[in-house]
Amino acid sequence: MNLILLGAPGAGKGTLAAYLIEKMGIPSVSTGNILREAIANNTPLGQQAKGFMDAGQLVPDGLVIDLLKERIAQPDCAGGFILDGFPRTIPQAEALDKIAQIDCALSLEVSDEVIEGRMSGRRVCLKCGATYHIENNPPKTDGVCDKCGDAVVIRKDDMPEVVRQRLATYHKQTEPLKDYYGKQGKVKAIDGTKGIRMTEQAAAEALGIN
Ligand code: AP5
Repeated sequence: MNLILLGAPGAGKGTLAAYLIEKMGIPSVSTGNILREAIANNTPLGQQAKGFMDAGQLVPDGLVIDLLKERIAQPDCAGGFILDGFPRTIPQAEALDKIAQIDCALSLEVSDEVIEGRMSGRRVCLKCGATYHIENNPPKTDGVCDKCGDAVVIRKDDMPEVVRQRLATYHKQTEPLKDYYGKQGKVKAIDGTKGIRMTEQAAAEALGIN
């Protein structure tokens, strides 16, 4: 299955993707994680993306479309993939339609108010991309990633003023994708406010993978 996770920043796409990877046995492709890794390694892509990400704006379509095309052409995506954070604009969705058949766009529904509360507690591992929350989903050892042992930190774009900008960007540029995939009959919407386990269960039911 080729699956897209739709939802606002902080709706829980990365957290749900970690569950679906195990459940479905297919990889997740997070354009945000790829871009953050490129910034950490100071690559040309990272240098181009950094200013946009720090300001809560989208990285230009051309850059992200190229990296996505390259990533889903890798052998591990041949049996299906989960897209977390792509597409984010109509041109990205149109580019994706030309290179892959999308089976479902799972939309995580969470209000802006809930998201602003969640972001203040989020901690991430910049090495492996694992996501935690200081109350809802803490790492087993405070400040240490369960998966790779690296430090977990606050993301630079999780500062309240940047979160508000990211939400505005989402409503303007990304939310129209619900209509785009709705017209193709591919959207399944689930409530993302009921806690992590309930959200996983709702996703499994919507996808018929219980
Ligand atoms: P990206 O990394 O994709 O960030 P995002 O979409 O803004 O999403 P987040 O990673 O912030 O949140 P999430 O939905 O994954 O939530 P999470 O699971 O962490 O993009 C970052 C930037 O990169 C963009 O702003 C842009 O600049 C650039 N970029 C990336 N892709 C791009 C593209 N295609 N085009 C252009 N630019 C692009 O959960 C959030 C918190 O809530 C966590 O603490 C978690 O533990 C907790 N939580 C999760 N689920 C639940 C639940 N059900 N109940 C309670 N708590 C929960």
